[in-house]
Amino acid sequence: MGFSQWLSLTFIFHAFLSLPISSEPSLGPEVLPQIPVNFLELAKRPEVFDWMVGIRRKIHENPELGFQEFETSKLIRAELDQMGIPYKYPVAETGVVGYIGTGSPPFVAIRADMDALAMQESVEWEHKSKVPGKMHACGHDAHVTMLLGAAKILQDHRHEIQGTVVLVFQPGEEGHGGAKKMLDDGVLENVDAIFGIHVSASHPIGAVASRPGPVLAGSGFFEAVISGKGGHAAIPQHTIDPILAASNVIVSLQHIVSREADPLDSQVVTVSKFQGGGAFNVIPDSVTIGGTFRAFSKESFIHLKQRIEEVITKQASVQRCNATVTFNDNDQPFFPVTVNNKDLHVHFQKVAGDILGTQNVLEMQPLMGSEDFSFFAEVIPGYFFFLGMKNETQGRFESGHSPYFRVNEDALPYGAALHASLATTYILEKQSKPNPPKGSSHDEL
Ligand SMILES: *[C@@H]1O[C@H](CO)[C@@H](O)[C@H](O)[C@H]1NC(C)=O
Ligand SMILES: *[C@@H]1O[C@H](CO)[C@@H](O)[C@H](O)[C@H]1NC(C)=O
Ligand SMILES: [Zn+2]
Ligand SMILES: [Zn+2]
Repeated sequence: MGFSQWLSLTFIFHAFLSLPISSEPSLGPEVLPQIPVNFLELAKRPEVFDWMVGIRRKIHENPELGFQEFETSKLIRAELDQMGIPYKYPVAETGVVGYIGTGSPPFVAIRADMDALAMQESVEWEHKSKVPGKMHACGHDAHVTMLLGAAKILQDHRHEIQGTVVLVFQPGEEGHGGAKKMLDDGVLENVDAIFGIHVSASHPIGAVASRPGPVLAGSGFFEAVISGKGGHAAIPQHTIDPILAASNVIVSLQHIVSREADPLDSQVVTVSKFQGGGAFNVIPDSVTIGGTFRAFSKESFIHLKQRIEEVITKQASVQRCNATVTFNDNDQPFFPVTVNNKDLHVHFQKVAGDILGTQNVLEMQPLMGSEDFSFFAEVIPGYFFFLGMKNETQGRFESGHSPYFRVNEDALPYGAALHASLATTYILEKQSKPNPPKGSSHDEL
């Protein structure tokens, strides 16, 4: 980072200059071990817990899709105003970036995504989505709430923070690449590390799960229009049948991963869309197919993309059809592989172990899902982990994107405390050894 860049950023922090200068003694490294435990107790206090539950339910009732999170953003800003936390808005349209602490380095970011999904909620409960066809089915309502919970805890301890915690509320995670837009707007300039949480229905409440290195796949979408020549279904010789061509294309696409990829390098090509024809007796002019592809390294990802295009166009030509292939709607960026920094993994294990007990800090296999948190973790050391929600006595918790998805609100204090503790202990550690060797976030690729 250049000195001039650094200067140009100082305007953001002018709000801090008006903060009263603390006369409280600052926390030294000797009190480090107590912080996380205290933060969980704080977050579980009824006044904090009930306040979080209220926020989460309000957001759940009013889900907003990517880059349309106007009311959610307004709610976040109202809560930050209430707490006296300065913030920058708008960032990437509806995004909000808050600052707690001295306004000076080290800077550590904690992140939540704000958007909902275009689907109908099927859970019948008092705080069901009030917007037909929109639902918080991925838990981003809980993510926003936990970040606000962390903000409350941190703001109460702001005079003890010898650095700055950056609260990142980002829009448009669900396929929109909102994180990329936040980055382009400079949210991570000068930031040393970033942490992100996702709720998980497959891990028990009170536990967290993650791993060092690649944790979520890189992901892209493709769509192809396969054109032939329509006509009477009983006179095929006068037509060029795109249904047959598309069927062969789909079968050939399955061979990319099974025959060309290293079996130990996990990859996926799925055709999830097939649209063509509308009558029993008519061969249509064209068929549209589409799907997703996933990989855990940039090289594998690029290879998949190239081969998907080749296989579709060449296989279509075998049946005399033409095909055009496009990737990602509206030039949206591919989601990179989410790679957890190894030093931050060590930090996470220590902090989460102190809060939850080491037996509740689980190591997991990588998942084929993807997250746009990866854009952040591509430019600075990042760490993404899953927060358990499963509690057998409260019935089955469906996984994300199910219309029956439920958030276990008992998880909120854990998320808030983990955010706050990871950030404060990161700053304390950084202060006690100002120039720790920075691990590359790409060391496994
Ligand atoms: C495919 O494209 C070629 C070249 O543009 C064209 O001559 C041909 O008619 C097309 N075939 C079909 C089935 O659309
Ligand atoms: C699981 O749910 C039950 C019933 O609501 C509750 O009493 C218990 O405390 C929950 N367990 C945890 C770890 O939150
Ligand atoms: Zn999702
Ligand atoms: Zn999500």
